[in-house]
Amino acid sequence: MVSVYFLSLGRKKRGVCALAVANFSDFREERIREYLSDSELDRLRSIQLEKRQREYVLGRLTTKMALASLTNNLKFRDVSVLNEASGSPVIRAPLDHGDYGTSIAHTDEIVVSLVFQREFSFGIDIENLGRKSRSALKYIARGGETIPEDSESSMVAWTLKESLGKALKCGLRCPEELVLAQLQRKDSVFFCSYRKHPEFGGIARIYGNYSLAITYPLG
Ligand SMILES: CC(C)(COP(=O)(O)OP(=O)(O)OC[C@H]1O[C@@H](n2cnc3c(N)ncnc32)[C@H](O)[C@@H]1OP(=O)(O)O)[C@@H](O)C(=O)NCCC(=O)NCCS
Repeated sequence: MVSVYFLSLGRKKRGVCALAVANFSDFREERIREYLSDSELDRLRSIQLEKRQREYVLGRLTTKMALASLTNNLKFRDVSVLNEASGSPVIRAPLDHGDYGTSIAHTDEIVVSLVFQREFSFGIDIENLGRKSRSALKYIARGGETIPEDSESSMVAWTLKESLGKALKCGLRCPEELVLAQLQRKDSVFFCSYRKHPEFGGIARIYGNYSLAITYPLG
């Protein structure tokens, strides 16, 4: 079952965001036509890998579930979650459903989407803590950036960087923009600021084997 949570992030509470979380078990091939628009169905037909098809479909479903929790009477087939040339997702919805943006991430069989007012920029990422090592983080570290000693914190740092890259719409292609200024841990929650982007804050939380990070606009 897709779960939806409401979040309020940022000093001035930049509106309420909605976070939706799905698992591959939520994928129902026979129901795809109920919630994908024609343009999304076209795009789906061009995807060969079954895992990627599921990620694509569930990314659209979670975004629409989150959007439906923030607006009234949303007809899922009237909404398209498309990708710009950079890969950044964009919501095309009827005007009376407001102006919202989304950020999407998938790992293993989990898909998450964050929906927020489009005048602000957010980014989300989720990673399996066992997947990447400190050496991967070193690859995208810049400017003498400190690499955390333990693999859990370095994976969290990676997840935070990727969430900033999504908020900036450059993904990991702009590593020089993604330098962490501070990474602080309190139990299973991490907080960070970004050296070149003081307008954003980052928060990450460890859930079992996963790190979930969100970059959000500050004050
Ligand atoms: C954006 C990027 C970080 C996504 O990483 P990923 O681990 O492959 O995928 P995730 O599951 O975290 O996220 C996928 C979603 O990111 C979103 N996305 C893709 N490009 C994006 C961009 N430029 N800005 C914001 N969001 C983007 C999409 O919504 C995508 O889901 P969808 O295709 O179903 O719509 C990645 O595509 C990227 O920038 N790659 C650059 C590769 C690179 O330079 N690597 C060097 C370091 S090893």
